[in-house]
Amino acid sequence: MKCRKCAGKAVINMRQYKLALCRDHFLEWVPAQTQRTIDKYQMFQFCERILVAVSGGKDSLSLWDILGRLGYQCDGLYIDLGVGGGIQYSDESQRCAQEFASQRNLNLHVVNIQKDYGETIIAIAERSMRGRDKPCAICGIAKRHIMNRVALEGGYSVLVTGHNLDDEAASLFGNTLNWIPGYLARQWPVLEANRTGLARKAKPLCRLYEREMATYALLRGIRYIYNECPYVEGSKSIYYKELLNKLEEKRPGAKLTFYLSFLQAKENGLFSPYADPDLEELHPCPTCNQPTSAPGQCAFCRMVAHLV
Ligand code: AMP
Ligand code: FES
Ligand code: ZN
Ligand code: ZN
Repeated sequence: MKCRKCAGKAVINMRQYKLALCRDHFLEWVPAQTQRTIDKYQMFQFCERILVAVSGGKDSLSLWDILGRLGYQCDGLYIDLGVGGGIQYSDESQRCAQEFASQRNLNLHVVNIQKDYGETIIAIAERSMRGRDKPCAICGIAKRHIMNRVALEGGYSVLVTGHNLDDEAASLFGNTLNWIPGYLARQWPVLEANRTGLARKAKPLCRLYEREMATYALLRGIRYIYNECPYVEGSKSIYYKELLNKLEEKRPGAKLTFYLSFLQAKENGLFSPYADPDLEELHPCPTCNQPTSAPGQCAFCRMVAHLV
């Protein structure tokens, strides 16, 4: 197969766009697509300081690479959750994030949950799982809390994550299966900071397929952790991704259309009655001062204080 732009040897064929590209043109195309997403959803500007949440995986490390190449000023944040498993997941992912930062002379904040809060996320989760079989929901609360704290304390204008199209389509699929209006109302490539202490959040890779990100990381020679968190296995999100991949196989572009048509429908007003920020009353948590809708302390402080 030949590159559409130069007729050289193609390294990837993106059936959804009927577009095959060679190495060099693909490495140009990914940042250009990312810039288009940043512009379309008005995520951030060149003068702003950006905090990139890096997990050590292909998406977030590639995102840090791409934003740097585009000329944005970015620091990284790695959260050591203390997840073990056969491959010592957290140790290995931290190594990848640190290696990436030091090779490029970039600034990486590292937050170690055990050091800062006395226990690993798994220990906190085991105590507070209450019948749930996975720590992922608890882990998600901790990640969101810490990302927001570091972004605000460090004076960053925006926090960015490496969520790709497959992540967003799977999450949309789950929210649609259950018709959860609140989640559907909030799902968007950028969430504005609000007065109550939530940092602006953006997902600049939301229109790029996971397969494209894996190819980008590989071609750029970025060393990343291949394994997913050991607790992800058997999760709903993996199941939804498998279903969507089956659909994509038969109908190239199905995932992209599913997600982009949703965004378009929202732009046309679908779900806007639910998007009223006043619907969710937020107040500062008395312990950490971060905004919460829970009565009293926020979910994270309750977890850490052994209240759940
Ligand atoms: P996940 O929820 O694991 O699919 O990750 C989604 C995004 O969250 C990643 O692309 C990263 O931007 C961010 N992220 C996940 N885990 C971590 C972590 N341990 N430290 C910092 N950022 C993370
Ligand atoms: Fe949080 Fe796996 S990364 S439970
Ligand atoms: Zn080419
Ligand atoms: Zn709190």
